[in-house]
Amino acid sequence: MLDLTPPRSSLDPIEIASRDEITALQLDRLKWSLRHAYDNVPMYRKRFDEAGVHPDDLTSLADLAKFPFTYKSDLRDNYPFGLFAVPQDKIARLHASSGTTGKPTVVGYTATDISNWADLVARSMRASGTRPGDKVHVAYGYGLFTGGLGAHYGAERLGCTVIPVSGGMTERQVMLIEDFKPQTIMVTPSYMLNILEQYRKDGRDPRDCSLQVGIFGAEPWTNAMRSEVEAAFDMHAVDIYGLSEIMGPGVANECVETKDGLHIWEDHFYPEIINPETGEVCAEGEMGELVFTTLTKEGLPMIRYRTRDLTRLLPGTARSMRRMEKITGRSDDMIILRGVNVFPTQIEEQILKIDTLAPHFQIELHTLGRMDAMRVICEAHPHAAADAARAAAALALAKRIKDIVGVSAECIIGTPGTAPRSEGKAKRVVDNRTKA
Ligand code: DLL
Repeated sequence: MLDLTPPRSSLDPIEIASRDEITALQLDRLKWSLRHAYDNVPMYRKRFDEAGVHPDDLTSLADLAKFPFTYKSDLRDNYPFGLFAVPQDKIARLHASSGTTGKPTVVGYTATDISNWADLVARSMRASGTRPGDKVHVAYGYGLFTGGLGAHYGAERLGCTVIPVSGGMTERQVMLIEDFKPQTIMVTPSYMLNILEQYRKDGRDPRDCSLQVGIFGAEPWTNAMRSEVEAAFDMHAVDIYGLSEIMGPGVANECVETKDGLHIWEDHFYPEIINPETGEVCAEGEMGELVFTTLTKEGLPMIRYRTRDLTRLLPGTARSMRRMEKITGRSDDMIILRGVNVFPTQIEEQILKIDTLAPHFQIELHTLGRMDAMRVICEAHPHAAADAARAAAALALAKRIKDIVGVSAECIIGTPGTAPRSEGKAKRVVDNRTKA
């Protein structure tokens, strides 16, 4: 693979500033953000008053722990615009996060917010190895989802040629990659697998295509998946993280030269890791729930927003800003099976260890007697589709899941093409348990 390390001179100075410079900037911006939220959003004023804290009480970054949390339900309760901190005519754009049920959560950006977002996605893309002048195929969905337009503005800001394909129509995705020859693709990792499969169906070798970098995010994916995609396409696979409530894609991103976790763009977002049960801030390096406070957002400031994403903070490497480890999963996606916590990423890892299995999968939960039970639905690679090979793979997978993850699972290995495919975020868990 090509060495795509960006020249140091192309980085934003703050990316490689000293920790002291970074924390000084954070403290200044944090004071502004708390004040902005308190002065302009009735919910924050009420919450801070109830908790007996005032923006002036923050004199160090650690003081943030005195302030109350914000939850996704707060956005729902104030639907659609109740948490906006500027008059409506200052909101330049709305996006929304697709809730599984009911109303979406709505987020709003001022023109400055949109411009900062473009800067941070451009920074993320540069960290991924994309260069000004490259062609960028955007297969994240366009629309209310932040993926498509977030990637789009970032690619433009970096000086790239954007190809705004959006998700779906997989055959056409392959045709456009072949004809337009982009160097970078931005897409969910599960949809990239779908595109890979289409390459093989078309009888093309994906290693011959023009792609050099894939910037994958919007859902959890493992290092095992990285190896699979990098080998299949002979390209770099880099992780991008974000969430609509905080901005969209580009809150944190891996660096192509290290691929050792995601550098959080700490000049705009202040991260904390907390114990999700007690709400206490964890010691540096401990695993817990990621909480973000926005430092510059005008339209929708978020103070101590509970992401539900589980990770740990690590010191900077390729950049001075701290890293977060690749996300294991969301607390909402955690399956508790007879007392054992299981994340879909752990199942993904085991599937990818068996070379007769294709990487498409779904987990189904159901009730067996009075117990919860897990079924893993995946499929054979075309080269191992015979009944006997599938039966052997089912046994091998069940054994790995039992030995390594520590739970019993029924493994169903279908023939090629039978496991569900994704065109955006994959739905990894289907819950068919009888509700008590
Ligand atoms: O998924 C924003 C995004 C778009 C990020 C494109 C990256 C690329 P939401 O729809 O609000 O926003 O979903 C946010 O998705 O809290 C995580 O649970 C999950 N997520 C996003 N990126 C990653 C990642 C976009 N790289 C939620 N790894 C977040 C694991 C991720 N999970």
